[in-house]
Amino acid sequence: MKKEGHSHTEFCPHGSGEDTELFILEAIKQNFDEYSITEHAPLPKEFLHKAAGAQYAIDTAGIKLSEIEPYLKKMNDLKKKYADQIHINVGFEVDFLPEYQQWTSDFLNEYGKYMDDSILSVHFLKGNGGDRAIDYSGQDYDEGIVSYYGSFQYAQEIYLQTVIDSVEADLGKYKPKRIGHITLCQKFQKYFDTDTSISQNSYLLIDFLLKKMSEKQYELDCNMAGLYKELCGVSYPPRDIVAKAQHLGIPIVYGSDSHKSNEVGRGYEQYTNFLLPVNAR
Ligand code: MN
Ligand code: MN
Ligand code: CO
Repeated sequence: MKKEGHSHTEFCPHGSGEDTELFILEAIKQNFDEYSITEHAPLPKEFLHKAAGAQYAIDTAGIKLSEIEPYLKKMNDLKKKYADQIHINVGFEVDFLPEYQQWTSDFLNEYGKYMDDSILSVHFLKGNGGDRAIDYSGQDYDEGIVSYYGSFQYAQEIYLQTVIDSVEADLGKYKPKRIGHITLCQKFQKYFDTDTSISQNSYLLIDFLLKKMSEKQYELDCNMAGLYKELCGVSYPPRDIVAKAQHLGIPIVYGSDSHKSNEVGRGYEQYTNFLLPVNAR
């Protein structure tokens, strides 16, 4: 079973605007059996209003509440149209926002029944001036996050702790079962000339995170987008961490995190090379 577990659509305000049908045709061409559409869910207005840092990242972080219905309608129409060629799941990539868990639970309780497959991701951390997107640019990450915490590796530990909090959070029965790009904090690692490797403390946090994920039977988003980011050059998470997850029996799900149709399926081959053979897990 060849599955694409993480993809975006023309509803994404920071995407290419290309019709989702083009993404799906590309997935069919590459012989995917299953394709999950996981658009960025809306974020609370109050959160966006108070957020700091690059305004573009805040303004384009998710779809608007008013777009949920047109989004679900369009994606479900495509799901039907291509049902005999590919199994399409419709869902969301939901942000974990520590201070807005009630809002997120309410959102999931309202729309969870329309979601086939979803991802829970951390894209924001507290930083200079307030909550800030961590995936906008090296400079923005440096000014807003690294300088706030004092070092790249300390910021990394805070990110991982927040991902742990997302796994432990009670967001109700529709909480997504897959945890997104658990090392997104490495996206701009090559921008810095300090030590940006995964610290000893971070490895301890990762061990704890994976243990919790395996207890709760969550899946790992093996997100290949980082391989294609000039300042990153590795998947989220890197291969050694994927192997640890496999040893714990955590289901690994490939994700291209495509925001353009020509990104569908990227890194799939590297992903299959990553995976440990069944008898070595
Ligand atoms: Mn995105
Ligand atoms: Mn994401
Ligand atoms: Co994504």
